[in-house]
Formats: sequence, structure tokens, C-alpha cells
Amino acid sequence: MAMTASPTTLQSASRRSVNIALLGATGSIGKSTLEVIALHSDYRVFALTANQNVELMLAQCLRFSPRFAVMVDEGAAERLAHMLRLRHSATEVLAGPDALVTVASHPDVDTVMAAIVGAAGLPSALAAVEHSKKVLLANKEALVMAGDLFMGALAASNAVLLPIDSEHNAVFQCLPPGARDIGGDLRQQGVRRIVLTASGGPFREWPAEALHAVTPEQACKHPNWSMGRKISVDSASMMNKGLEVIEACFLFGVGPQFVDVLIHPQSIVHSMVEYADGSVLAQMGSPDMRIPIAHSLAWPERILSGAPYLDLTKQGNLQFFEPDLARFPCLRLGMEAARTGGTAPTILNAANEVAVESFLNGQSRFTDIPAIIAGTLEQMTCRKADSVDMIRQVDEQARALARRLIGTQ
Ligand SMILES: NC(=O)c1ccc[n+]([C@@H]2O[C@H](COP(=O)([O-])OP(=O)(O)OC[C@H]3O[C@@H](n4cnc5c(N)ncnc54)[C@H](OP(=O)(O)O)[C@@H]3O)[C@@H](O)[C@H]2O)c1
Repeated sequence: MAMTASPTTLQSASRRSVNIALLGATGSIGKSTLEVIALHSDYRVFALTANQNVELMLAQCLRFSPRFAVMVDEGAAERLAHMLRLRHSATEVLAGPDALVTVASHPDVDTVMAAIVGAAGLPSALAAVEHSKKVLLANKEALVMAGDLFMGALAASNAVLLPIDSEHNAVFQCLPPGARDIGGDLRQQGVRRIVLTASGGPFREWPAEALHAVTPEQACKHPNWSMGRKISVDSASMMNKGLEVIEACFLFGVGPQFVDVLIHPQSIVHSMVEYADGSVLAQMGSPDMRIPIAHSLAWPERILSGAPYLDLTKQGNLQFFEPDLARFPCLRLGMEAARTGGTAPTILNAANEVAVESFLNGQSRFTDIPAIIAGTLEQMTCRKADSVDMIRQVDEQARALARRLIGTQ
């Protein structure tokens, strides 16, 4: 029922071969995860999943020989199966979204890396929790859209949940061990507040009027991190930090008033925890996702990640600023949804996914993103989120409404 398992359980698990299901293998997090796994012989790739990227999945299957490869797209699954047959591969190809749940809950799987982007990752991440896996959660949207249910499922299982988002992974590393258990009250452990850092994205210093003309290429060019397109746009709009405030509230069981955001352009301090006595613990490192991935894969042990070590003498100044909620209204919307609770984060997440897709397809402007989200939130009633079916319904309604708003722009 706890977020953390006893160290002995995990230490002994890491001595034998650990079977991993890597959901979202062809993405940025998926590729970084395989780079870390390739450094260590005691992790075995049991299953890889993707949506459509047959070429990369084929290369990954030939390199890591998983027992299963899942392609959500049926045509892509057929093409992959054909190519693997030609190469006499023993990997079995499964197709469709249900196959994600099959591999995430497979009895032979120990660890699930949940790195699918967006709401599509919810059923498999939830299945992994319900089947008491060690779950490495990159897919923040799953937690944002269904946080109460997700954390409820965690409390009812023997799953271990470790955050991959560099900020939450940093907070996790800075919390006292006793405070990491679900249901634990951070204030009783002397925690005063959590401070999430944010790079500020590529438009940190741009004037508000220049943001209208932003192109998808500019938005996807993050100054410090190399990431998938959706999260890159979220970072540019600062919705990523809004989603992360909600994620932190669910993961660490705190209200949004305990979560602050600081702009830190260098992305060296990944987040901080402030204690009642005035101590502030910060986790630092190169901005490289292999660090939180290696941390979570091996936790509570430490393994090589392959990331460059930090040389603070070459780093120069570390700066910290207040975020500008007027220029980046998506962060404000995220914070408000965290305060409202219930289905507000579900609606926010769905409208944001639709708005970002529409921006990336050239159908709407960068500055339309917050307007679409605010319009969707205004027109829907927030309720208590009490079942996955209800979350699905709210998600679909919010998407339909956001699409209508885009159509009428
Ligand atoms: N990238 C980072 O540095 C970073 C940092 C922190 C958190 N995260 C979070 O990690 C998650 C993944 O981010 P990413 O940057 O790795 O994304 P990405 O590069 O866009 O990769 C997304 C992965 O999900 C798969 N996918 C897409 N749509 C799918 C669907 N409908 N059903 C099943 N699989 C689908 C993709 O398969 P195809 O390749 O076949 O499309 C790909 O494997 C996101 O939730 C993000 O917020 C990422």
C-alpha cells in the first residue's frame, strides 16, 4: 500500500534479473530508458510498446529481444510482425490499446516504465499499479487526469510508485524516507513547502505581444532539455509546470498552497524541499533524464546513468525568479485547477492536449492554447472524480468542447 517498498525487497529484486515493460519505448523517455538499461546486465527488456513508429521499434526489438512488442496502431503491428518474421525474431507482436494493459500487468513483469504521452497512457499505468508493479511514472497526464483514483489504486495495492519527472524525482530524493509513504503528512515530518523549479522554456524573456507569432518549431526548441513535441510545447507555454503542480499535490499528498514554482533558467537545481527549521534540500544534476530514470530503476540503490557529471565550476551563476503568470497564463490555469480539484485537472488536461495538437498542426496559435483551456473549463462543471468511466466521459466531453472552441475561433 505504500509508495515506497522496504529497501530489502527492492535490493533483492535488483540482484536477480529485473523484467521491464517499457511503455512508450520509441519516445524521448523510452529511448533514454533503453540507454540506461543497456549499461546494466541485470535489467531485461520484457516488453516494448509504441503507437506507430515501426522503424524504431524494429531496431529496438532486434537490439533488446523483448518477449512482446506492442504497436497500438493495427497496421503498424502487422508491418512490424512481418519485418520481425523476416529476421527470425522470437519477439511476439501484439496490437491495439488493450495490449498495453496486457503487458503492463503481465505476471512476469517486475517494473513498468509508463512513458506514453498524454491520456492514452492512463489505462496501462493504472493497470501496472493495480497489479502491484514497481511503476516508474513519466506519464504525468495519467496522474493529472485521474489523480485521486490513481493514488487510491496505489494505496490498495503493493505497487511502488517512483516519479520520473525530474522535478518530482528531485523532491522525492529530498524528502525524509518516512514522508514518502502514501498518506503520510509531510508537515508532521517538518516539511514546510515543496519548490518546483522551471526553466521558463524558450520564451522566458519574450514580450507578451511576440508570443502570438510563435511557430511549432520555435516552441519545440527547448533551451536545456531534449523532449517529445507535446511536452516541449507544454514547457514553452508553462502548462508543463501547471501539470506538475497538480502532479506534486497527488504524489506527495499536499494541497497546492504547499507547492511553489520558481523559474531557474539553468535547470541544474531540479527542485527543493524546505523544512520548518529553515533548511532547504535541493537535488542537482545535469539536465539529463537518464539521471531520474537510473535513480528510479535502481532505487533504493544507485547505478550509473551514463549522464555527464555536473561541474559547478563551469556552470556560472544559478538564478531564481518568480514566474510571470500574466505572460504564461497556462501556469495560472494549472494552479487554479489544482485548487479546484475534482474533475478540473481532467478537463484542463484534455483541453490542453487538444489545444497543443491543434497548435502543432498549424490550426491555432500558441496564444490560443490558454484561451481554449480557459473556455473549456468555464463551460464545464467540475465534479468529484469517482470512477475511471466518469473520468473517460469527462475527458471526452472536454475534448469535444475544446475542438468546438477551436472550430469557432
Ligand atoms: N521527454 C522528457 O524529457 C520528459 C520529462 C518528464 C516527463 N515526461 C513525460 O513522459 C511522457 C513521454 O514524453 P516523451 O517526451 O518521451 O514523449 P514522446 O517522445 O512524444 O514519446 C511518446 C511515446 O508514446 C507513444 N505513444 C504516442 N501516442 C500513443 C498512443 N495513443 N498510444 C500508445 N502509445 C502512444 C509514442 O509512440 P510512437 O513513437 O509510435 O508515436 C512514443 O513511444 C509524457 O507524459 C511527458 O510529459 C517527459
